[in-house]
Amino acid sequence: MAKTKSAYFCQSCGYESAKWLGKCPSCNQWNTFVEEIIDKGNVATWKSASGTQRLNKPNKVEEIQSADEERTTTSDAELDRVLGGGLVAGSVTLIGGEPGIGKSTLMLQLALNVEGRKVLYVSGEESEQQIKMRAERITKDPKSNCYILTETSTQNIFKQIEQLEPEIVIIDSIQTLHSAHIESTPGSVSQVRECTAELLRFAKETNTPVFLIGHITKDGAIAGPKILEHMVDTVLQFEGDRHHIYRILRSIKNRFGAAAELGIYAMQSSGLREVSNPSEILLSQRDEELSGITIGATLEGARPMLIETQALVSVAAYGTPQRSATGFDTKRMNMLLAVLEKRCGFRLSAKDVFLNIAGGIKVEDPAIDLAIMAAIISSHEDIFISSKICFAAEVGLSGEIRAVNRIEQRISEAEKLGFEKIFISNYNLKGLVKDKFKIEIITVSKIEEVFSLLFG
Ligand code: TYD
Ligand code: MG
Repeated sequence: MAKTKSAYFCQSCGYESAKWLGKCPSCNQWNTFVEEIIDKGNVATWKSASGTQRLNKPNKVEEIQSADEERTTTSDAELDRVLGGGLVAGSVTLIGGEPGIGKSTLMLQLALNVEGRKVLYVSGEESEQQIKMRAERITKDPKSNCYILTETSTQNIFKQIEQLEPEIVIIDSIQTLHSAHIESTPGSVSQVRECTAELLRFAKETNTPVFLIGHITKDGAIAGPKILEHMVDTVLQFEGDRHHIYRILRSIKNRFGAAAELGIYAMQSSGLREVSNPSEILLSQRDEELSGITIGATLEGARPMLIETQALVSVAAYGTPQRSATGFDTKRMNMLLAVLEKRCGFRLSAKDVFLNIAGGIKVEDPAIDLAIMAAIISSHEDIFISSKICFAAEVGLSGEIRAVNRIEQRISEAEKLGFEKIFISNYNLKGLVKDKFKIEIITVSKIEEVFSLLFG
């Protein structure tokens, strides 16, 4: 019998050690080491048992043949955009997201809708019947040849793949797979790493695109070792509020395109529907003007989006004022509040401040700063700001209004949606042809100016 070998793995970063350690030398986390049995003897993975190993030689960069990146459409415009313009042959894409957000639905929808291709959907989480039921909700007549396999052993999956020869493989989820060559339980660091490595080898050798669904931990990181994210070509995050219908697919890493691209979907009873014009749904149709609401012209990826921000400022009911933000970084909100207090003299330190980005969207673009500050002051003073005004500027610590990137795109989007005025930074004026736009462009350089223009 082969001797079993074990090692200790940090559950946070995947660091491997021969003995147990209290603190991980790599990521400095405490108590993260768990013993896992590994058996690396006679590893037979994707064809490596039969095939001879190819030895790579160094090649001069000019002599390397540039292969045209073959891109194919996934029949889902949002997903294509997030992937950087379509699916690349031999790429491995990891999709992470909270339970119930719709990862399986998104992937099954892809499996059913890619036109005329043979797709293998491997599920280790649901039964064939469950998947069939879901497939019926999504579409009545699939446009692809979609095969479902319920299996968790990578060796068996590869056997089926060799017979079926699918053009796209989807794995739901990587944490349920196990490789016979490693003895630890599915979902453990070494299993996840090994299974991913095997699938990666398969993808690269056969030029088949592979999608992996990954679970996330309670802090929102993809479960398993961080190296999982390093191994794959593309990491996508599927997020949104389960109580809202909108879901956002964000690219975090993409070897074949721009990161920070974004796709928006609406979860309906018949699956996910692409949302091609996000601004219209993110702006609520207001009949009357209300205080505490402003619109920010943000950019997510390469796409401009007008987003409604809502603030509520009220007298603190308890000694310590509450500060809470949904869809926006609370630390950054606190910073903006400090700027308002110090530079503009608003007495906000004894006030509760609540902030909400409409539609359950998370915004990281700093260009929303000015809209947020205006919403807070509008609520504080209880004076409404016209719904025909929008904002696109970052605010610095001394209250200066800073320039943001791609200002023309933001202005055009605001103009397209019928806004009458947009506040931007003075520093954004360089190279900007103001006359081109019909919308009134108001340039400011200090936060005080904004408030005197808004509230007189
Ligand atoms: P699911 O894809 O199972 O999530 P994940 O794989 O990320 O855990 O998402 C399931 C949720 O989506 C579930 O709450 C039901 C809902 N849903 C719809 O609203 N409409 C649909 O057509 C489908 C298939 C699911
Ligand atoms: Mg699922």
